This record gives sequence, structure tokens and C-alpha cells, in this order.
Amino acid sequence: MKSLKDITVAGKNVLIRVDFNVPLADEDGEKRITDDTRIRYVVPTLQYLIDQQAKVIVCSHLGRPKGAPDPAFSLKPAAVRLGELLAKPVTITEDCVGGDVRATIEKMQPGDVVVLENLRFHPGEGKNDDDFAASLGALCEVYVNDAFAVSHRSNASVDAITRHVTECAAGFLLEKEIATFQKAMENPERPLAALVGGAKVSSKLGAFYNMIEVVDSLLIGGAMANTFLKAKGMDVGISKTEDDLLEEAAKILEKAAARNVALELPVDVIVAEKIDEQAATSTVPVDRIPAGHMALDIGPETCRQFSDILKNARTVVWNGPMGIFEMPLFAEGTKAMASALAQSSAFTVVGGGDTVSAVHMAEVADKMSYISTGGGAFLELMEGKTLPGVAALG
Ligand code: 3PG
Repeated sequence: MKSLKDITVAGKNVLIRVDFNVPLADEDGEKRITDDTRIRYVVPTLQYLIDQQAKVIVCSHLGRPKGAPDPAFSLKPAAVRLGELLAKPVTITEDCVGGDVRATIEKMQPGDVVVLENLRFHPGEGKNDDDFAASLGALCEVYVNDAFAVSHRSNASVDAITRHVTECAAGFLLEKEIATFQKAMENPERPLAALVGGAKVSSKLGAFYNMIEVVDSLLIGGAMANTFLKAKGMDVGISKTEDDLLEEAAKILEKAAARNVALELPVDVIVAEKIDEQAATSTVPVDRIPAGHMALDIGPETCRQFSDILKNARTVVWNGPMGIFEMPLFAEGTKAMASALAQSSAFTVVGGGDTVSAVHMAEVADKMSYISTGGGAFLELMEGKTLPGVAALG
């Protein structure tokens, strides 16, 4: 990927794709951003462009509108927040292409910042449509992708646009995300441990197969662990499992053994009869889950065993919670993993929306070596894939 620093941007129209897909809450009829991390993380790139006297045209998606304007998905709150972070006026346009947008851009002075309205208000964005990409490309002389979190999508502003702009480069955030992941997975200090959780084995099959090729230990928690336990012949009561994947889970266990990867599953779990904040819970070994009960978090002995491995690792990659961490009753396992990573001197990389929330909940975010802005994009890197947005810059 060509770096932004290799391009002269002074006085030029620079279209920068960012991912301002931030969580919003309704407050007295107003939308409020509840986590501005994705905006803060691109400020260094934007500030660099401003300092270089580029005309900075920012574009992004937000949410999943249906290819037509929808005020609920307006980027206005993000543009306001960006203005605060850059401490300068930031204009937002009513659309992302068209005559009014071109007129606004023509009036820009070097160092000005304009945010274009949600790209997904046009169906062409999601379809990677060439005409839509050409209209976007016509707005600029230089295109910068600094939207790691959406670079797994073959969208017009991520992929097709690179065929319509002569000078294309990666922004600092995209570079950092890719370099961090490469450091962790391709050139790691060993032992390398992967901690994987969440609900479904199916969502992480590709990641498991790829991780087994590179990690020294693979620690699996969350509801997905139930499928592996069941594949090993255990009775997991009414725990959530994916029965159509039992054979696949057994294959992963075999493959890990064949490659000498230490694949660790929970040895004890917190069980309840239902998912309920007030449920009566007990801690049981995984081979003693009572009938009519389900595993909802990893137990204290598992926490101890997993923590030991994580503390002794030199590199750790974490994606997915260990239980239903949104409920305090079933959050202890996830919190214990967050503090094990915080105490580890390993290079720790955390990715995925839930996992990042968990790290914040445990108040150890500042103790992680790197927190990725990617959800799906992070997972695709774990699967060993090249992201379309990255490939397009190559
Ligand atoms: C994300 O939040 O993971 C990215 O912004 C991509 O959003 P999408 O899944 O709606 O494409």
C-alpha cells in the first residue's frame, strides 16, 4: 500500500474514506454519540492533511440505511464531534455526490474540512457500483482509505473508487491496524495465544482454521465452547450449541492436536436454568452440567487456567466475550480475561465490538497494547483474508 506520506497533497482535493459508523443514542430527540473512538482514531490523519494544506473531503457510512436518505442515519452528529476534536469549523453537505456537493467543494480553501453525508444513502455504495464510484472519484485528486473497519466490504468508496482516482493511499489508521495485526499474527513474539469467545462457532470457523496454523494456544470460551464440549461427547444440558457443526468442531480439535496447538476449553462453567439477571446460578465442572441448565459464563478454575496461559504469552489476540457479559451475573469470566491481559506483559491486541466494550467495562482499555476499530474487518484478518479495501490500494 502506498502511504499518505508518499503523496503531495498540498492544495489538492483529498477524499478520505473513514469509518464514522459510531453508536448513537436518542436523547431528547437528539442523536448523541455514545462512543467516539472511531472518530478520534482518524484525527491524526485528518490533522496531517489539514497541516499539509489539503482540502479535506471526508466520507463515511453510518448504519445500514436502505440505499436512500434517512435522517436517523445522518452523519451530522459525527461531523459536529469531528469539528470539536479538530477545533475548527467542519461543514456537512446534504448528500455525498451531485451539484450541491461539487459547489461546496469548489469553495473550499486549503486546510478546510467538509464531511459528505452518509454514502449508504445511495444504493451504488453497497453494490460497489462503478458509476457511483466515478461520481465520488470526480470530487478529488487524491483518495485516502483510512477506514479499516469497513475495508472488508467491497463498497464503492472502498474498492471501485480506486479505479477512478490516479493517486490512492492508505491513511495512518489503516496502516497501523494492518501493521499491528501483522506483528501479532505473522511475525509474533512467541508464545502466541488467541482467546476466542462469543456465541457462534459458525461465525468464526474460518478464523479457527487460520489461527490453528499460527498460534501456540487457542483458548475458547463463550457459548461457542459448548459446541466443542458436546463434540467431545459431553452432556451440556440445555446450553446453546450448534449441532450441525459438531463434526466441524471435532475436526478443529483434531487439527489443533495434529499441529500441537494447545486448544483449551472451559473446565468449569457458571450455569443457570435461564438467561435472567435474577437467575439462581451455580458453578459446576463441564462434565457435570445439570439437566435443564445452561452454561452462561466460564467458571473460576477456567479463569485461573486461561489467565496463566495469557500471562505467560508474549503475544495475545482476543476476540469475543466468555459469557453473557452484558449481565453482571455472567460477566466475571470476561472481566477476568480482560484483567489477565492487562496484567500480562505480552503484546495484546483486542478486536471486535463486544470485546472492546468488555475491555472498557473492566476499565483496562489503557492497558492493552492495541484496540482495533474493526469488528468484521478484524475477524477477516483473523481468517487470514486480504481485505478488499487493502487489495484495492495495492
Ligand atoms: C462495522 O461497524 O463493523 C463497520 O462499520 C462495517 O459496517 P457494516 O457491517 O454495516 O458493513
